[in-house]
Amino acid sequence: MLLQALLWLGFGFAPVASAAGVLAPTPPMGWNDWAHYQCRIDSNVILGNARALVKTGLAARGYDTVTIDDCWMRKQRDSNGNLQANLHKFPQGMRAVANSIHVLGLKFGIYEDAGYATCGGFAGSGVPNGGGAAHFRADARLFASWGVDYLKLDGCNVYTAKGESAIATYRAAYRAESEALKRVGRPIVFSESAPAYFQGTPQWYDVLSWVRGYGQLWREGSDIEIFDPQRPNRSRWASVMWNYEYNLQLGRFQKPGNWNDSDFIIGGDRGMTLAESRSQLALWSMMSAPLILSSNLNKLSAASIRILGNRAVIAVDQDPLGQMATLLRRTPAEDVLMKPLSDGRYAVAVLNRSEHPLHVVLNPRALGFSGAACRFQSVALWTGSRRAGAQELAAHIGAHDTQIWTIRPTAACGVPQRMGVITRIRPNVAPHDRTAMAYTRCLSAPGSVGECTGSGAQSWQVLPNGALRSGGRCLAQVGHSARLSACVTSALQRWRYTLLGNLINQSTHQCLTGGASGALTVQACGHNVASQIWSVPAAMDAGRASR
Ligand code: GLA
Repeated sequence: MLLQALLWLGFGFAPVASAAGVLAPTPPMGWNDWAHYQCRIDSNVILGNARALVKTGLAARGYDTVTIDDCWMRKQRDSNGNLQANLHKFPQGMRAVANSIHVLGLKFGIYEDAGYATCGGFAGSGVPNGGGAAHFRADARLFASWGVDYLKLDGCNVYTAKGESAIATYRAAYRAESEALKRVGRPIVFSESAPAYFQGTPQWYDVLSWVRGYGQLWREGSDIEIFDPQRPNRSRWASVMWNYEYNLQLGRFQKPGNWNDSDFIIGGDRGMTLAESRSQLALWSMMSAPLILSSNLNKLSAASIRILGNRAVIAVDQDPLGQMATLLRRTPAEDVLMKPLSDGRYAVAVLNRSEHPLHVVLNPRALGFSGAACRFQSVALWTGSRRAGAQELAAHIGAHDTQIWTIRPTAACGVPQRMGVITRIRPNVAPHDRTAMAYTRCLSAPGSVGECTGSGAQSWQVLPNGALRSGGRCLAQVGHSARLSACVTSALQRWRYTLLGNLINQSTHQCLTGGASGALTVQACGHNVASQIWSVPAAMDAGRASR
């Protein structure tokens, strides 16, 4: 308490998300069966993995919630309208499974669906097909009576009445579940899948705006690739890169108690090399994403357990600021990411997405520090190796691997500038083309949008007054075009960034528009127009100052 008060008074830090009653103040962690087992589950699979979570030491590192995904129940409700467990799979019923999980010191999560049937075709909580009363209240009470601590509510088979819009129907369903959970007298973390059903549509952003009011985390997009016993060794790396890519652009929706969920950690499972497993854990941690393992924990190698259990990397994920990493620089081969930590340090990571080893050197300027005498204390988190008084971060990074550090800058470094790349996405990339280069376009000075190259022209500073500066010049609206000119105090050079991702000119109230052809213009703002939705670097001190 005293320490918090001192921090708050002395440094403008406020106690972070520690207010009583905040559910999931840091990203949820645990294990879920789906990506490894799909419907091949029973109480032995679930409890065997729960015990492995404890035995491997991963539970003690924070992976504390065991969630049973789809296929635990029967297709029909009982004569009283209650959900029924599949007693072939769970002969003692779900309360017994919950008890066994609680006895291990773990929390118990369960899966349901906002529609009339789950994705696997089992009884859903939502409005029956064709209309009628939903079951959210009764099902929430049943879950609470079993001792459920976490609910994942999927969004398959949602019945939309004639004259209703799909988005309004989803919203009503997720709101109803949220209200039902608040009345059961037990804190239950609510994981919402609604946004995933709108990915690639303009409404995606509207759904992302309202799920925050109802639950603690939400799946925004496609599933991470599942383990297929018929093809156990096929690579699952491309799907990890894809989920990373779409999640990285959504930092503005996230805050403590409200998390984007880029889906399961499959690192350590078949189809992932150790380098790729390191990358997944490091990238998810840089994004402050939930860390929900989904593998056969009894088969993890010792090396995988060391990776997944790396205390320092997990601490980056669980940092109370909960900020999404900012993309400082992107080339076809590498991403440089950075985020502030609550104790004055920063986490920095470099992903090598290429097929070749990479040597990287990052000087203070590359991280946004300006002081010439700037030095850091750095820790390379995979090895624990420490350096004091360093003037740069340097590493050899193997193909598909990610290096991750924490740094503590000296006072001479100052606060890093709010800088990095400004991107827009192409919402409709075909599944075979779901790569960073195809999906994400970078804003380049003097005024175009195209492939991310890592050139200096793609490095932007966002100034406190809303100016966007590159190469010492500021982006100004001139008629319907956007041009770089000398920075002056003019509202034509100031841009307001909104939750929906628009950059709105402060003089004309029109929106920065990056057309498919690569042209950069300024047009009347539309609602969720893809060419007007941007991902912009986050401030490196905002979380600490404002919380
Ligand atoms: C959807 C979800 C998955 C899993 C399955 C179960 O695909 O996104 O995570 O829950 O349904 O059927």
